[in-house]
Amino acid sequence: MSTMLSILARSSPRHLPPPTVILRSFSSSAATQQAVPTESKALNKEFKIYRWNPDEPQKSPELQSYTINLNDCGPMILDALIKIKNEVDPTLTFRRSCREGICGSCAMNIDGQNTLACLCRIDRSENKDTKIYPLPHMYVVKDLVPDLTLFYKQYKSIEPYLQNDNPPAHGEFLQSPEDRKKLDGLYECILCACCSTSCPSYWWNQDEYLGPATLMQAYRWIADSRDSYEAHRKEKLQNEMSLYRCHTIFNCARTCPKGLNPAAAIAQIKLHLAAD
Ligand code: SF4
Ligand code: SF4
Ligand code: FES
Repeated sequence: MSTMLSILARSSPRHLPPPTVILRSFSSSAATQQAVPTESKALNKEFKIYRWNPDEPQKSPELQSYTINLNDCGPMILDALIKIKNEVDPTLTFRRSCREGICGSCAMNIDGQNTLACLCRIDRSENKDTKIYPLPHMYVVKDLVPDLTLFYKQYKSIEPYLQNDNPPAHGEFLQSPEDRKKLDGLYECILCACCSTSCPSYWWNQDEYLGPATLMQAYRWIADSRDSYEAHRKEKLQNEMSLYRCHTIFNCARTCPKGLNPAAAIAQIKLHLAAD
């Protein structure tokens, strides 16, 4: 070992100056040029949200007020609800899943309009509160969560699936582009129930009248060229209540957050029945 050290000592380049250490130094003026996040002025907005807890049945429903800074929140009503739940009040209850208008679960009544919270922009005027209620004329499970049991039962009643006793011997059901086109404006429905719960006829006859969402889906299967149960489907609607409670008021088309027109589909069913 000592021999090796002496060899190294002899061969080391003693004549070279020590290596220069380059230190990066920033002058105080350079530091001020770096990006520093700036605090923007708070934009405080009040949300008044319907609250009801089934565990406190003696307490009446009430509007609870929450104020949040919109400059620290995403642009949609669902962003505000999530912020309130995460940062202010974890007991606030609402449904949501996709946050992009696909699942239909965040349907609620916002400033008087049934719509999807994830597609509804927050009104940024500071001096105007935003009121949020569950979908109207429905039993409430908790806070903003409506009971959709009857709605789904009605949907199930129209047998929302392809029925055909003579399927093709080989391969798939074929459909012409023209026949496929007949389903446009129908298949896009996400069953959010905004339309049915904005329909006065549905409010008053919910037990028997199927309502615009379910009826539009009934028509979606009547119109499908691959389905051979048209007569059976129409027969189920041929009574005083299931279909004919629609008085073509068009609330349903006005409120649909997907831009669909259930009233037009209902009118088509009536035409089909009249033609029989
Ligand atoms: S028609 Fe529109 S409002 Fe009605 S359930 Fe379908 S997506 Fe919702
Ligand atoms: S058009 Fe018919 S289904 Fe639509 S809101 Fe009016 S009554 Fe209800
Ligand atoms: S969260 Fe799915 S439609 Fe709004």
